[in-house]
Amino acid sequence: MGKDVIIACDFDSAEKTFAFLDKFTGRKPFVKIGMELYYAEGPSIVREIKKRGHKIFLDLKLHDIPNTVKKSMAVLSRLDVDMTNLHAAGTVRMMEAAIEGLTRPDGTRPMLIAVTQLTSTDQESMEKDLLIEKPIADVVMHYAHNAKVAGLDGVVCSPLEAGKVHETCGNGFVTVTPGVRFADGDIGDQKRVMTPAEAKKIGSDYIVVGRPITAAEDPVAAYERCVNEFVD
Ligand code: C5P
Repeated sequence: MGKDVIIACDFDSAEKTFAFLDKFTGRKPFVKIGMELYYAEGPSIVREIKKRGHKIFLDLKLHDIPNTVKKSMAVLSRLDVDMTNLHAAGTVRMMEAAIEGLTRPDGTRPMLIAVTQLTSTDQESMEKDLLIEKPIADVVMHYAHNAKVAGLDGVVCSPLEAGKVHETCGNGFVTVTPGVRFADGDIGDQKRVMTPAEAKKIGSDYIVVGRPITAAEDPVAAYERCVNEFVD
């Protein structure tokens, strides 16, 4: 498992996505396909990006009864993605079922990562809407622990939580962290951010970077800057 920069391809069409990816003539970045692009274009977008030689994190955040998640994961596994995810809130049993579904007949499978509490959930909404009254940091660590018990490879978390996740679940447990911004860049709607260099220092394994690359004047240069700060 190597450290890498994953570009969030948050586009609403294949056309825009390919116009963006065409700019990368050298190194093929690891890309994240989220709900917007997947629901717009369907599984063909995954196959086409894969064919172009990119690694893919398919970010569909599954959360359903264990049997449905198991069968859906089997479908995603056949798409030959490199990483996919689900909500840890679906319980340990659901996560175990997901691993079963994802595992191919030859024993290989894409990496499976859990979403703990979304970063859009805060202490107040967790207590009021979900009736979860523990401190949110404890809830995040408990979900991470559950993901590890279920056999998952890691979690999506804020870069600020990555160090604690490694302390709780071990350094081999992968942290995938969005909320990354350049020191001199726009924060946008992200609240708690870190630079690629800070994310590296705190021990993130993968950073997920969207607008600082996709909206940059020179996306390839912005990507290279991320790689230089985070990986090299
Ligand atoms: O453009 P930006 O760098 O903010 O994009 C971050 C990406 O990471 C988006 O695709 C967003 O949906 C995703 N993400 C996030 N926070 C989470 C989980 C996922 O920003 N907690």
